[in-house]
Amino acid sequence: MGPIVLTMKASVIEMFLVLLVTGIHSNKEIAKKIKRPKFTVPQINCDVKAGKIINPEFIVKCPAGCQDPKYHVYGTDIYASYSSVCGAAVHSGVLNNSGGKILVRKVAGQSGYKGSYSNGVQSLSLPRWRESFIVSESKPQKGVAYPSALTYSSSKSPAAKAGKYEMTKASHLPCLPGTTTQPITLMPTLATTVAEDTHTNLPRPSPPAASATSSPRPQPVGHRSRQTDFWSTTASTSSQTSAGANTGSPRQDSVGAAFQQPMGADASLGFVPKEEFSTQSLEPVSQGDPNCRVDLSFLIDGSSSLGRRRFRIQKQFLADIAQALDIGPAGPLMGIVQYGDNPATQFSLKTHMNSRDLKAAIEKMAQRGGLSNVGRAISFVTKNFFSKVNGNRGSAPNVAVVLVDGWPTDKVEEVSRLARESGINIFFITIEGAVENEKQYVVEPNFANKAVCRTNGFYTFSVQSWFGLRKTVQPLLKRVCDTDRLACSKTCFNSADIGFVIDGSSSVGTGNFRTVLQFVANLSKEFEISETDTRIGAVQYTYEQRLEFGFDKYSSKSDVLNAIKRVGYWSGGTSTGAAINYALEQLFKKSKPNKRKLMILITDGRSYDDVRIPAMAAHYKGVITYAIGVAWAAQDELEIIATYPARDHSFFVDEFDNLYKFVPQIIQNICTEFNSQPRN
Ligand SMILES: *[C@@H]1O[C@H](CO)[C@@H](O)[C@H](O)[C@H]1NC(C)=O
Ligand SMILES: *[C@@H]1O[C@H](CO)[C@@H](O)[C@H](O)[C@H]1NC(C)=O
Repeated sequence: MGPIVLTMKASVIEMFLVLLVTGIHSNKEIAKKIKRPKFTVPQINCDVKAGKIINPEFIVKCPAGCQDPKYHVYGTDIYASYSSVCGAAVHSGVLNNSGGKILVRKVAGQSGYKGSYSNGVQSLSLPRWRESFIVSESKPQKGVAYPSALTYSSSKSPAAKAGKYEMTKASHLPCLPGTTTQPITLMPTLATTVAEDTHTNLPRPSPPAASATSSPRPQPVGHRSRQTDFWSTTASTSSQTSAGANTGSPRQDSVGAAFQQPMGADASLGFVPKEEFSTQSLEPVSQGDPNCRVDLSFLIDGSSSLGRRRFRIQKQFLADIAQALDIGPAGPLMGIVQYGDNPATQFSLKTHMNSRDLKAAIEKMAQRGGLSNVGRAISFVTKNFFSKVNGNRGSAPNVAVVLVDGWPTDKVEEVSRLARESGINIFFITIEGAVENEKQYVVEPNFANKAVCRTNGFYTFSVQSWFGLRKTVQPLLKRVCDTDRLACSKTCFNSADIGFVIDGSSSVGTGNFRTVLQFVANLSKEFEISETDTRIGAVQYTYEQRLEFGFDKYSSKSDVLNAIKRVGYWSGGTSTGAAINYALEQLFKKSKPNKRKLMILITDGRSYDDVRIPAMAAHYKGVITYAIGVAWAAQDELEIIATYPARDHSFFVDEFDNLYKFVPQIIQNICTEFNSQPRN
């Protein structure tokens, strides 16, 4: 044998190999033709997650349109079974947005999944998941029987589930599909607690509220006294029980158990669908609801007179809020400050960046005791809470929701104004406010309306009873998440000293000058004008300059609008540079330190003098400068005058008659900038 092989020529060996390979190949072809059973490929919707399907390996048909970001995908190449099957297929490049057939194979859970952007789909990262899957082209493997109907992990059809999801979503409860029990378990916990309170024949005897705090405190004058606190005591027994049920030690146990489950291939094939329903902490961490991107602080009442049960209701309220808000780095962030004699940050904006962790932490909060020094707390929030180191993103509106039992024991008006002027939107929730015979103790009558920026009720809630607090969750969140409204709330409109610098040169002409004044009036109208809110000033210039009126001249909108109407057309040359210097000196030098300084310059031609140095001086002095050019105005000059970035601060129109078109845009830019730089 040996010698024969040795004498074989290389070419012969090659031929032999070719024959061998061809043989195998044709055998395979035959095998395919014979063995491949005819089966109908099951279809699924884009939102179906791999974890919902029990079959370890299957071929499915995906519809078109699964590239949508709403079908979440976790991982790259190997996907957590929490992902949309079809979404993952698009991400991995096996499928395009037109849909088609794919082969899905379940594999072991991973300790981490990395998100990536691929084929038009952004997949997310996930720390770990109990099961994974991979997607490939639908080339059936020899000897594998693919199911022609899929087995789902629940008797309910996926369609029914999708409907349920929509419903819960609509009611604003974040509910991850697949964890349908979540909203249900949480709501009853609260419902029971409250129902118990409401229906178990009040009044109840009570040990002083002090049971919650360290020692009984004498109630100071001005602080609500609840000597006859009718529900603190007996409550403590039943509340212990309900607290135990609430904080969910059982839930934690089940989580612990879930973690101990092996995550090997066997476990994943063994797939226990129930697991998905009970293991809350294995849910992917949300990025947050992008439609409610706010930096939110709750100032909560920890005063002694509140009592233990009310404090618990307050905690439940916060937990409900944390639950209903989909908290995350791309959505709302929420921190809590508890006040008594003094305030303290319970959680900053960056302590708990998802709803679940925050909720768990809220359960563990202890009451501080002391007075209800709300003013001190608001001041603290302005100075400390919304600082950058504490997680203020800068680009999200700042919101402070103040909960107060009865009334504050200190004043809130002035500190609230400062808070608002630094860009914080204040909401006030007064619970069980002063009744007639208590009004004499209220330190500052009508405190809630004094604290908020508008007294139209948008920023205030008055809740009759702590039992009714829960009803405010949804209305409150609706307002708090109305970022457009917040972005242009009075905090944006009441914060500035706005100086108009108006070109009165000959080229403008009388008629057009009237149009310019209308433009100035239309912009001014948008602001809240008063001595403490926005103030308006105006300068007209030709070769020369004159002060039409300074910031402190008028303190109401109607006076300002009348004054604008009365400005007389001057006519002359165009020295824009000198006019900027004049405005800095005559207007902005007298601006208040806590105001934003805005200069809005309107010109119709190129300046006779250089604008560079004056413009730099304005920018250097923190005057945000808008340059509006009409007709013969020079765009390069407008861009030099305008604050950076010029595209947000300079505007050009070819005709005076088109000036009106810029009013909404300029207002919007002013507010956007205000909200992106909320600190003064
Ligand atoms: C999607 O893929 C199918 C099959 O590979 C192909 O025929 C079709 O042209 C693709 N569509 C697009 C929009 O790329
Ligand atoms: C100002 O507002 C009035 C009323 O809305 C409008 O008719 C007019 O065109 C506006 N003019 C300018 C220049 O903005």
